[in-house]
Amino acid sequence: DEAPGRYKVRSLALAEAGRHQIRLAEHEMPGLMALRAEYGDAQPLAGARIAGSLHMTVQTAVLIETLVALGAQVRWASCNIFSTQDEAAAAIAVGPHGTPDDPQGVPVFAWKGESLEEYWDCTEQILVWPAGADGQGENGQGGPNLILDDGGDATMLVHLGLQYERAGVVPPDTLPGEPDHTHEMNVVRGVLRRALESDPLRWTTVAQAIGGVTEETTTGVHRLYHLAEAGELIFPAINVNDSVTKSKFDNKYGIRHSLPDGINRATDILIGGKVAFVAGYGDVGKGAAEAFRGQGARVIVSEVDPICALQAAMDGFQVARLEDVIGEADFVITTTGNKDVVRTSHMLALKDKAVVGNIGHFDNEIDMAGLAAVPGVVKTEIKPQVHEWTLPGGVGPDGVERAERSIIVLSEGRLLNLGNATGHPSFVMSNSFANQVIGQLELFADMARPADERQYARQVYRLPKVLDEKVARLHLDALGVRLTELSKEQAEYLGVPVEGPFKPEHYRY
Ligand code: NAI
Repeated sequence: DEAPGRYKVRSLALAEAGRHQIRLAEHEMPGLMALRAEYGDAQPLAGARIAGSLHMTVQTAVLIETLVALGAQVRWASCNIFSTQDEAAAAIAVGPHGTPDDPQGVPVFAWKGESLEEYWDCTEQILVWPAGADGQGENGQGGPNLILDDGGDATMLVHLGLQYERAGVVPPDTLPGEPDHTHEMNVVRGVLRRALESDPLRWTTVAQAIGGVTEETTTGVHRLYHLAEAGELIFPAINVNDSVTKSKFDNKYGIRHSLPDGINRATDILIGGKVAFVAGYGDVGKGAAEAFRGQGARVIVSEVDPICALQAAMDGFQVARLEDVIGEADFVITTTGNKDVVRTSHMLALKDKAVVGNIGHFDNEIDMAGLAAVPGVVKTEIKPQVHEWTLPGGVGPDGVERAERSIIVLSEGRLLNLGNATGHPSFVMSNSFANQVIGQLELFADMARPADERQYARQVYRLPKVLDEKVARLHLDALGVRLTELSKEQAEYLGVPVEGPFKPEHYRY
């Protein structure tokens, strides 16, 4: 269903199902609900116009409605073509007080199974707000003043658009030297080109109004630090990912839950007794390896970083190179946030019916284009986001002779916990999203200060530890946790305040 400029979702009829799930999720998201209780009356986000690009799930719906409860106006798109839960998107478009015949919710542009063209159109929709009709936008300027990003696509679109505008260059269709993401970047430049045709100062206007971004994930944070180092970041950024209550919880415990969820919903293959290969032993890799071990798999990990490799070994995992153990693996899962981790040569050497999936942010961890280009390969859709790739028997492109076999690839190489399942569960996302809300509050409060009193410049910042501890505190009661309190003498002995923060900045948890 679609109303131009207001929403585009699978079907508004799904709103009731979405609303029930949102209601149950609220119960599991004490951090967000506590922020509503704390700030609902004060409306500290009144005047904030937030463009959100983050997986449009049930948990995200609770985040959106928290931002609205704090006074913000919001427009939303998903940050992945497969990650939307259509019932959540419908419930957001309809809103808690609307009906499918009379939708009154937040403008949302997201459905499961977007094409790349549709995906980038949706991203543009959250950045260009129509003035008037639905009360969104201001003085015909029609744009957000804050971005809430996951992976950095919304931030990237604004930066790239501005670059072309400043250079006075029409974004070209193709560029030489783009080995990966080539097609997607063509799509991005197409969106920019069309925008510039209708308004030559489109991105200048949008960029000027934006006071900052809060970024959810490791990959998006990497992009922000690169921009800041190059002196190209055009607004302040809060790195939500590296709040301890985000990356040490969502990336690890969230994955520990949602990785097996994705594999089970996709394949229903028994994990116990099998060999699972996990590429990368950062926060996501740690959660993935633990999940496989918890199911009784024999887990092999790969790492490039000696510290993480040693951690994996000490945690009891075999650490090896993929090419050395490829023939043993029943599951190969990438968690690196890096590119070209599972290459075609690896996939050719996999066992019959081995499962390949990625749980990092972008699809370039697995060489899907290389797989598709194997001579004689046949792709069969088992169900949406589950594909069997049959590799012909005989001498393969790697010169090795093998019998015909097939491998199962999940979510076409995109993050499988959101493509094949519904992402992380609510409780862990309550931690992540409480950080997001606090980050938005920080940036918006700063925008109201006179320019010479602002705390945030065009750099990347983490939230102060006291707020990180606050997020954790908000989740203790629900789990029946009783904290031990420091005595005054103990606090003095340690050199910390009785009420925290308890650790120095360099502490790593
Ligand atoms: P991280 O930086 O903690 O871990 C990545 C690890 O991969 C590092 O230890 C690095 O040394 C290793 N690595 C890099 N290249 C490698 C290679 N070629 N072979 C083996 N290991 C390699 O990052 P984190 O937080 O674990 O995030 C990883 C990815 O997952 C990012 O793209 C992030 O955005 C994404 N993510 C996805 C989530 C989801 O729900 N699917 C949730 C959170 C993060």
